[in-house]
Amino acid sequence: MPYSSFSDAQVNSLIKAIDSDGYAVLPDWASPTQLNEMQALVTRTVAAAGNDYVALAGRQAVTGTPMYDWGNSRDFIDLCRRIVAGATGERSSDTTLTQTLRCLTGNGGRRESLIFHYDSFVLTTIMPVCMPESGERGDLVMLPNRRPIRRTYLRNLIDKVLVDNRWVQRYMKNRVTRNDQALTRIVMQPGHLYLFWGYRSLHTNLPVAEDALRATAVFHYHNVHGSSSLASRLRKSLGTLNGPDIQDDVPQT
Ligand SMILES: [Fe+2]
Repeated sequence: MPYSSFSDAQVNSLIKAIDSDGYAVLPDWASPTQLNEMQALVTRTVAAAGNDYVALAGRQAVTGTPMYDWGNSRDFIDLCRRIVAGATGERSSDTTLTQTLRCLTGNGGRRESLIFHYDSFVLTTIMPVCMPESGERGDLVMLPNRRPIRRTYLRNLIDKVLVDNRWVQRYMKNRVTRNDQALTRIVMQPGHLYLFWGYRSLHTNLPVAEDALRATAVFHYHNVHGSSSLASRLRKSLGTLNGPDIQDDVPQT
């Protein structure tokens, strides 16, 4: 990571960009060597999954790769904390990032695309590892900053239920097809880091051609309702069911 320290002015300008444009970019966040190592990891991972959709959650699965180091990087976590503090006025007590390596290809990759959702975390950062250069690239699309940070988990859940149904999903897909200008569409470059308010923005990725590969390293910071007892009871009772909040365990961007 070439960015080891940020001034307050730099952090503020990132926040401003996310507020006004929907996202911010840190170019060349990964060095060429790190990007190569990540691409080799993706190649191995996708081959082991039979050339179909696969997501590696957490750090265990990526031991010995740059992804492991980023997830544990004091500088990166500190940057996320400062961005969240600057935006919300609250210093997060989260000491870790929630991370996933997400590889979209094949039939499974198409099924995992175009699912509009809100994240449970204030800040979502994405570093593309492999991106198709033409055809269906799997661009990130969003309606930025559509909701405030909810004070209760229940209110947050209502937002999610209102989005997680076939009518709203179909409506949003139509807006994509119509190329609705209100949607922010981001053509991502491998090695850059993209930051946005995942909690506040309705977002997803566009589909990827079955024979193409789109892989992203996703890092989330500050689970807004992480300490909610209703949230943990619901998680327990839903178990493996695909409840609206469970979706965040595997990010859909
Ligand atoms: Fe997401």
